[in-house]
Amino acid sequence: MGVKICCIGAGYVGGPTMAVIALKCPDIIVHVVDISKPRIDAWNSDELPIYEPGLDEVVKACRGKNLFFSTDVERLVAESDIVFVSVNTPTKTSGLGAGKAADLTYWESAARMIADVSTSDKIVVEKSTVPVKTAEAIEKILTHNKKGINFEILSNPEFLAEGTAMEDLNQPDRVLIGGRETPGGQKAVAALKAVYAHWVPEENILTTNLWSAELSKLAANAFLAQRISSINAMSALCEATGADVSEVAYAVGKDSRIGPKFLNASVGFGGSCFQKDILNLVYICECNGLPEVANYWKQVVQINDYQKDRFVRRVVSSMFNTVSGKKVAVLGFAFKKDTGDTRETPAIDVCHGLLQDKALLNIYDPQVTEDQIKRDLSLNKFDWDHPHHLQPTNPTTLLNQVSVVKDAYEATKGAHGVCVITEWDEFKKLDYQKIYDGMQKPAFIFDGRNVLNGSELRKIGFIVYSIGKPLDPWVKDLPAAIVRMCLLWFPDRVGDTSFGVIGGSNLMCEYGITRPAIDEQIIVSIE
Ligand SMILES: NC(=O)c1ccc[n+]([C@@H]2O[C@H](COP(=O)([O-])OP(=O)(O)OC[C@H]3O[C@@H](n4cnc5c(N)ncnc54)[C@H](O)[C@@H]3O)[C@@H](O)[C@H]2O)c1
Repeated sequence: MGVKICCIGAGYVGGPTMAVIALKCPDIIVHVVDISKPRIDAWNSDELPIYEPGLDEVVKACRGKNLFFSTDVERLVAESDIVFVSVNTPTKTSGLGAGKAADLTYWESAARMIADVSTSDKIVVEKSTVPVKTAEAIEKILTHNKKGINFEILSNPEFLAEGTAMEDLNQPDRVLIGGRETPGGQKAVAALKAVYAHWVPEENILTTNLWSAELSKLAANAFLAQRISSINAMSALCEATGADVSEVAYAVGKDSRIGPKFLNASVGFGGSCFQKDILNLVYICECNGLPEVANYWKQVVQINDYQKDRFVRRVVSSMFNTVSGKKVAVLGFAFKKDTGDTRETPAIDVCHGLLQDKALLNIYDPQVTEDQIKRDLSLNKFDWDHPHHLQPTNPTTLLNQVSVVKDAYEATKGAHGVCVITEWDEFKKLDYQKIYDGMQKPAFIFDGRNVLNGSELRKIGFIVYSIGKPLDPWVKDLPAAIVRMCLLWFPDRVGDTSFGVIGGSNLMCEYGITRPAIDEQIIVSIE
């Protein structure tokens, strides 16, 4: 047998990455260790702790042969040659840099443990996303404690995307390895390169200095998130001008210098990395005396928050300025399709916004459990990125307004509105006539991912809002829509100005609309 690998952290990165290394390198023994016993138990069961297409097959093919999951962290670290560290690096919630800087508590405790238990030379690989110069700090911890043992630190950031992690790991665009420019550092780089060379073409394995590798990960995520915020910013302008964001994105993306990927307008980006990594980048810029650069990147997160907020405001204003007591179906809770991951999902902010306005939510997601959804809606900002068993929960009465249901039809039954938050393929194939028939009227659909066919839905009778698309007259001009509703429902009263006031007001009360500004327009219009 060849080298022995141990990965600390059996999460979304550690689990799939090590499974693929084990598959591609039958001569290497791979142990994945974690402080969370439930997580390790799940990795050793038929129900893996994370959902990722293709992962099950790979784990089942290797588990028990050269891939092992264990809580025996110290022993397995001590016995290994290469230690990957893939633990949580949350955003700090208090103290210096709170709300921006990376909290390296878990990384540091892993490094201290490696230093304590090691009895042989090791290569320690940063797999977690960390601030630039973390390797220097880790080096100090390791060398300070060493007992004649040599530790070489490498940065090998992970670029996989959840939902396509197995494809990304099988055929990575690139593998990046950063190391010290010393003979020892270069030897370590070569050793790690040899692992990836089992299946990654040599020209796709990039080697750089440590700091370039650390910064490249933050930069890559900042660039990706920036594209989403750019198209989302355009989506607001499209709605204001009558342009269609899909047409704009297509035309822009046809420019080979820009390219078509990551130009889908949506309710906003989510996931465990984008926001966290950009905030981290902002903090590093501030610490290095670069406030202009920090502010530039901060805008990417601010536009994302604006987009989520804009969506909620659109829902509430379209539904007569209130969703109080109204059932709203939320389709999708994961931060994107083909994953059960809900970390920083825009669904959390959208649900919070609607719950604050006293909506009653029926939530359905094909991969996210009721437990997880309720937990997410009860956590404070940034608390999600700690190991599961260490997350502080914050019981909230808002959960009384939430039901988590088993399918989309159940979620939409009796609802006033439907919000599509995740682009799951199954939402494209639903029987929307059946959904419409079961809903309160007027029936609203708010497509936060532009995955539904708006014109088909309009033919059925829905009032439709799609991000960045020309607005339905209803959504654009609510008071006029009320007038149309009055005229439609009470045609015999046209011209009756008192009805304008009384009937209009009653309708408004029924739908919870606030009266000022709208009364007058109704009277005038009916006259
Ligand atoms: N999720 C992604 O798509 C992705 C992609 C690239 C990089 N990253 C980065 O990789 C790192 C891990 O992310 P993740 O999504 O796998 O997180 P995760 O929360 O899914 O997994 C981290 C695991 O580390 C364990 N852990 C924490 N401290 C430990 C310790 N001292 N000893 C043993 N186990 C410990 C936790 O119990 C948890 O199971 C983060 O820095 C993240 O930013 C994530």
